[in-house]
Amino acid sequence: MQGIDRTGTGSSKWARAGDGRIALGLADMDLPGLPEIGAALAERARHSAYGYTVCDPGGRALVAGWYRERHGVLVDPEWVLLLPFGPRTALRLLLSVVGPRWPVLFPTPEWGGFEQLCRAAGLPYRAVGLARDADGYRLPVGAFAGADLVLLSSPHNPSGRVWTRDEIRGLAEGVAEAGGLLVSDEVHSDLAHPHPTLRHPVAVSVAGELARHTVTLNSVGKTFNTSGIPSCFALVPDPGLRERLTTRMAEYGLWEGGLLEQVVQRAALRHGGPWLDALLDRLAANRELVLGALPGAVLSRPEASYLVWLDAVALGLPAVGAREILLAQRDVELSAGTDCGAEWTGCLRLNYALPESSLRTALTRLTRC
Ligand SMILES: Cc1ncc(COP(=O)(O)O)c(C=O)c1O
Repeated sequence: MQGIDRTGTGSSKWARAGDGRIALGLADMDLPGLPEIGAALAERARHSAYGYTVCDPGGRALVAGWYRERHGVLVDPEWVLLLPFGPRTALRLLLSVVGPRWPVLFPTPEWGGFEQLCRAAGLPYRAVGLARDADGYRLPVGAFAGADLVLLSSPHNPSGRVWTRDEIRGLAEGVAEAGGLLVSDEVHSDLAHPHPTLRHPVAVSVAGELARHTVTLNSVGKTFNTSGIPSCFALVPDPGLRERLTTRMAEYGLWEGGLLEQVVQRAALRHGGPWLDALLDRLAANRELVLGALPGAVLSRPEASYLVWLDAVALGLPAVGAREILLAQRDVELSAGTDCGAEWTGCLRLNYALPESSLRTALTRLTRC
């Protein structure tokens, strides 16, 4: 897969890095997108009526078909909400309707949204430290006992960890006992790397009879690199919660199925499988390059997506100010660990979704003493 030149496209990731630097921070990809998405947008753009749109119920069936084919999971199309905004907004909307009795719990490090969104919603919260063994991060399921609202990034941003079925089932059982909800943010789930046995456990399927106590959130935004046209979809088996969510959306003048989002989502879910398989091979190869170049610094071996969580000190950097030093002296831009929680000063997050040659250059710069 060749790279793409994003000059002049208004890319936030490259704007953040600045001239002459390689952008390895923000979570989007510098690899070519699915051609069918561009073609579908171009075709729709040729018709000059861009008025209000209805939500095509066929979009729910497409999501269900995607889950059946890619994850081997049966999803009732009735559960699917097709949301005309990105996952961050969807989480904020959920927090505005759920009303937990106890503090919201989420694992830390976290992708940089859960804490901010709980604060914005005025909800008390507590970040629960992940456990770590020789294999990488583990979910300390017992530490979530009693919580009636748990937010989970699955697979995990920033580490790329794919949680086990037992971990997800344990969390679902805990929240169900408390009469609550497990919100599983699975926007990186279609990017699980090829593996002979490891499968991403989709929360709604693992929870089984407890499915009503889960919301599974996903989007084509991360998978197909279309986050600039925000959309996502939520699997919400509880009809009462679905109703509350659509009512709250209507209060904000929002409705399911926006014009461009539907075009993008349809093209991605209809045609994206083979493209995604090729992308996953590229990402897995890039992951191996990173692991080979930075062996002692990787805190948890990535199993999905294109992010790796690093120990700055093991890279020969100071625990404080590592990102700034890399930016000023080595011309690479990574995300600061503190974006994932204030306590993570000694860490960095690196995005390796870029062409091999650029990644090699970036790794050379990163390891230069
Ligand atoms: C796990 C996770 N959830 C939610 C989001 C938010 O996505 P968006 O900003 O497109 O709404 C991100 C973005 O990186 C993410 O990684």
